[in-house]
Amino acid sequence: MKNLAVVGAQWGDEGKAKIVDTLAAEASIVARYQGGANAGHTVVEGGRKFVFHLVPAGILRRGLRCVLGNGVVFDPAAFLVELDQLSEAGVDWLGRVFVSTRAHVVMPYHRILDGLAERRRSSSIGTTRRGIGPCYASKATRHGILVGDLLAPARLREKIEAALDWLGPLLEKSDEPLPTPEGMIRDFEEIRPRLEPCVADVSGMLLRQIEEGGGILFEGAQGMMLDVDHGTYPYVTSSNTTTAGIAPGLGIPPKAVEEALGITKAYTTRVGAGWFPTEELGEMGEALRRAGKEYGATTGRPRRCGWLDLVALRHAVRLSGIDSLAMTKIDVLGGFPSVKSCVAYRLHGREIDSPPADPSDLEHCQPIYRELQGWPVLTGPGERLPEPAKKFLDFVADTVRVPISLVSTGPDRSSLQVLNDPWRR
Ligand code: GDP
Ligand code: IMO
Ligand code: MG
Repeated sequence: MKNLAVVGAQWGDEGKAKIVDTLAAEASIVARYQGGANAGHTVVEGGRKFVFHLVPAGILRRGLRCVLGNGVVFDPAAFLVELDQLSEAGVDWLGRVFVSTRAHVVMPYHRILDGLAERRRSSSIGTTRRGIGPCYASKATRHGILVGDLLAPARLREKIEAALDWLGPLLEKSDEPLPTPEGMIRDFEEIRPRLEPCVADVSGMLLRQIEEGGGILFEGAQGMMLDVDHGTYPYVTSSNTTTAGIAPGLGIPPKAVEEALGITKAYTTRVGAGWFPTEELGEMGEALRRAGKEYGATTGRPRRCGWLDLVALRHAVRLSGIDSLAMTKIDVLGGFPSVKSCVAYRLHGREIDSPPADPSDLEHCQPIYRELQGWPVLTGPGERLPEPAKKFLDFVADTVRVPISLVSTGPDRSSLQVLNDPWRR
């Protein structure tokens, strides 16, 4: 089987987990390759709702291996809470969930630094405060603690002391109580027996699977416009959220990523600060938030809402090499008399159909809309899509120049229409 990537094609929360959960039924391994517990991935299965932050959404498929690659920033406490929740729900995970020895650990001081950076900025990013940015920063300055270090106490102490020596002057600016090396080491000692069976050579495992028949499903977190290099910088997360993040984030060759499925809502949402050209600030935005129940799965914050941005979507298609799209939440647009989508931006009097080279120019981009006829409220999972909804899908596919292979019409696993199976396309 081929190896298939599922990536967010907007600003996150596109419904990636729901699609991963479905496609995982045929996968050999599901692999997260970037981000950390900033992600909130929701799966609804037969009325039961699961929200995953670190554990890949494939975990509900019995017997399937789920891995976190070296590119993930790993919060051990958050991970163990998730495993406990799985146990409580009767989901078997032992011997199925693995984290790379080389993944970087989100330390308590990273969370403090995240909060500190947010408070000291003149315009804050609105991060999830999960320590994501500071952890990736430690990786880049080579003061990071690896998951493997947690299993080697002597080395761990040395590395924590070196990291604190480097970050000390910054941490002193915070008025939060600072963790001591002894305290952190004690906490890690306590959880080590539980973590140890989950630590593995993830790259080795995936390289073997590539040789033995593939079928790896790569689960992206966040979305294209939050990519640290190509998103709305500085209002982004700190990792590469495009398919380009997969190879370095897992320790596999880029050519192992054989097919890419981009996930988009039928409209747009964004949590946190930053440019959002199609944002609807008035009643329309409120109506979308209400209909789509748009509140963050990680922080509970209300999501900002607006119309579908085909300029951003086309950019995601080109940057991630997206072969086809899954469109989610088409049900949420049911009942509106008409639906709009942005086909170009007007910037300083000129029309452009890709995002400006300088992300700051997004502030001045005015959306140019196409308005299409709306469709009635959908009644159930099996219902045939109304003609206007089909026309909307065709319009999106034509504009961004890739086909739509899946259409999601509700939160539950069962509310999905397969137009063209991405495993077999
Ligand atoms: P992710 O981060 O991309 O996995 O997405 P989230 O889980 O953060 O947010 C997506 C939300 O939309 C979740 O609450 C899902 O249960 C829900 N959802 C997914 N697909 C659909 C759909 O087709 N219709 C509706 N109404 N809700 C959906
Ligand atoms: P999933 O995987 C939506 C946003 C935050 C903030 C910015 C930086 O569920 O789609 P960070 O904590 O990463 O430093 O915050 O990125 N953000 C997300 N928005 N979905 C996510 O993940 C997100 N993860 C981070 O709101 O604007
Ligand atoms: Mg989410």
